[in-house]
Amino acid sequence: MCTNSLLLRLLIAAGLLATGTAAKVTSHNYTDALAKSILFFEGQRSGKLPNSQRMTWRKDSALHDGSDIHRDLVGGYYDAGDNVKFNFPMAFTTTLLSWSVLEFGNLMGSERQHALEAIRWATDYLLKATNDPGSGVGVVGDPNGDHNCWQRPEDMDTPRTTYVVTKEKPGSEVSAEIAAALAASSIVFKHSDRTYSNSLLSRAIHVFQFADQYQGSYNSSIGEGACPFYCDFSGYMDELIWGASWLYKATKAPNYWKYVKENIHYLESSSTVVRNVNGSPVPFVGGGSTEFGWDCKHAGINILVSQWVMTDPSNSKPFIPKADQLICSILPESPAPKSVTYSPGGLLFKAGSSHLVDFTRKQVDYILGSNPLGMSYMVGYGTKFPQRIHHRASVVPSMHKHPQHIQCHEAEPYFKTKAPNQNLLIGAVVGGPAENDTFEDSRYDPGQSEPVTYNNAPFVGVLAFFKALHS
Ligand SMILES: *[C@@H]1O[C@H](CO)[C@@H](O)[C@H](O)[C@H]1NC(C)=O
Ligand SMILES: *[C@@H]1O[C@H](CO)[C@@H](O)[C@H](O)[C@H]1NC(C)=O
Ligand SMILES: *[C@@H]1O[C@H](CO)[C@@H](O)[C@H](O)[C@H]1NC(C)=O
Repeated sequence: MCTNSLLLRLLIAAGLLATGTAAKVTSHNYTDALAKSILFFEGQRSGKLPNSQRMTWRKDSALHDGSDIHRDLVGGYYDAGDNVKFNFPMAFTTTLLSWSVLEFGNLMGSERQHALEAIRWATDYLLKATNDPGSGVGVVGDPNGDHNCWQRPEDMDTPRTTYVVTKEKPGSEVSAEIAAALAASSIVFKHSDRTYSNSLLSRAIHVFQFADQYQGSYNSSIGEGACPFYCDFSGYMDELIWGASWLYKATKAPNYWKYVKENIHYLESSSTVVRNVNGSPVPFVGGGSTEFGWDCKHAGINILVSQWVMTDPSNSKPFIPKADQLICSILPESPAPKSVTYSPGGLLFKAGSSHLVDFTRKQVDYILGSNPLGMSYMVGYGTKFPQRIHHRASVVPSMHKHPQHIQCHEAEPYFKTKAPNQNLLIGAVVGGPAENDTFEDSRYDPGQSEPVTYNNAPFVGVLAFFKALHS
């Protein structure tokens, strides 16, 4: 696993765009990149694959997940280059994919349908993970067993342990993030599948209530299932407020908005130590964190809530000023706060619009190959892209090429070789280069060469925006 918050920041920047006014420039093929960024999710699928599966070198896998607790937990996504189903980041991926579709789905053209399928692959599973009212599934697959082996998902035989949070051993961060994902996706399916949307929403309401009523961190509740892999460093108050924000957006029920307003101060209190995923303190910008990732939701809350308080000036604080400050902190020239007018309608948003578009496009283009190495950091996009990504299914020969079972350590030669990976995980965006623009393209450096689902998810929305802008 790695954490590169760059892509998440791009979504934030793009999420604020009112109308794009950037000059039309010919550059990358965003249509192609968009399609691939969504296709990637097919490569991460766990469970029984449908006939419509386009990434055909992947096959059925983990068909007995949940059997240790007599539940059906088949489906969902493998997190990254490993084969664990970490529901906390998986739910966040789902929330971001849904947000991408809500903001930019109408710009996706025929890819919108694929994006909906990618969301549904996760939500079908998240419904299974929460169908017992008194508990919730936090993780499927023993992370230590999994990380010790280099096996393709199709024949892994490491323990598929299910880690559950309960009333006595709660996990408010994982439950509240699942509530956020179900609420956000319920809006996505509202018009195309009313029945499904309703079941997502009613489940979101119950799961949120469970998360809020029985507060505690899954860190201590499920132990090795959470730490050190996806330890919750920033606490669970941010997920609860984030979940309530999405539930408010989905239901417009005043109690969720009240919840957000009454609890937001927890994220501002200086006694709340906010740390990033590496355990180091996160810089606060005027009391609101600039971090937005699977752990820390602060910046996302401010952006999301800003969308509805824009027309409700009496409730604009702290959300809009924090969102403004976030953008100032991201833009390279970082204007001092005094140079920005915080009008209730958010002057910065309008004044900075074309500038933000241009800034974001440069970031996207860098990822797609406009960089000193001429290297696209999306697998299968362009002519030069990473060949040795840190990803079990991609590294080990497919079932087509090698139908026989491959044992835990048997695939090591495929990991150690200098030769390219066996299978192309098209659309996977890897961790990316070092700060000096160099890239090792080595399986030994997962920070650079491992793709993760929650980085691709916001990129989907950003690419849809640029596809539309440049077509
Ligand atoms: C962009 O990519 C799409 C999909 O791969 C392809 O059909 C199209 O021809 C490409 N456009 C250009 C201008 O190369
Ligand atoms: C989760 O565990 C990590 C590592 O032990 C710790 O730093 C962090 O404070 C814990 N988070 C919560 C919310 O307890
Ligand atoms: C670039 O940075 C990486 C990672 O910090 C380092 O290993 C490498 O030596 C640096 N390369 C150059 C050319 O400075």
